[in-house]
Amino acid sequence: MAYNPYQAIETGEPGRIGWRIHYFAELDSTQEKAVALAEQGEAQGTVVIAEQQSSGRGRLGRRWYSPPGLNLYLTIVLRPRMPAEALGRLSLVAGVAVAEALETVAQGLVAIKWPNDLWLCGKKVGGVIAETIADSGQSISCVLLGIGLNVNLAETDLPVELRGRATSVRIATGCRCDRIALAAALFSRLDSRYMEAESSGFAPIRPVWERYSALMGRRVTVICGAERLSGVVRGIDPDGALLVEGEAGVARILGGDVSIQGAYD
Ligand code: BTN
Repeated sequence: MAYNPYQAIETGEPGRIGWRIHYFAELDSTQEKAVALAEQGEAQGTVVIAEQQSSGRGRLGRRWYSPPGLNLYLTIVLRPRMPAEALGRLSLVAGVAVAEALETVAQGLVAIKWPNDLWLCGKKVGGVIAETIADSGQSISCVLLGIGLNVNLAETDLPVELRGRATSVRIATGCRCDRIALAAALFSRLDSRYMEAESSGFAPIRPVWERYSALMGRRVTVICGAERLSGVVRGIDPDGALLVEGEAGVARILGGDVSIQGAYD
């Protein structure tokens, strides 16, 4: 294992987010490494960070662009004590925590695009995925929360196909950002929001999520498989479903790709 610059920010007891941080110079995906560690019994709150990923995974089967030396690619092992139906909202809880951490370096520029794309100045700066491991009885034993954040990428570091749609903290603010300090802020916010979700559910976090929402009141198109729906976003419901008011009334959107009409997604 490479020298670990993130060891300095390990904090708290086993079970708290960021109590242990495993650092790798290169991985295929931090999600894969976290699965292996979780299956060996690694405690909740363990973080896997890679300097670069050769097969970084995004939502909807997409790849996550993961060049070295610039960004944050990490996965957190969670062993949630919450009802199964609450697990689907964990990635929304994480989105709020990531937004709050980004506020420390890009105040006033942060938004969330449902379900959990992080935006700075209207372009995607990061994303969250949540993958589960079931035990032999088929109940969920573990959630692997993956977070990718573009931190010090320059516009010229972006592949051509991402230019115009993706950004970084550095591009949006004009300032280089200390990745280790940003990771520390992220683990602190995630630890607080995760404990809040375990003790009080999603209800107190939902209005914070809605305040960050880039979609509130906007006309969007939702594509889910062969289905396509257009309408105006009215918020999210207590289960985290996106509420889109179209011609046939208000639809609950549970998955798929949402784009703002007349803007980049
Ligand atoms: C998205 O599509 O918006 C979610 C992207 C999540 C990317 C992160 S980078 C760290 C972790 N490891 C992966 O392979 N993916 C997630």
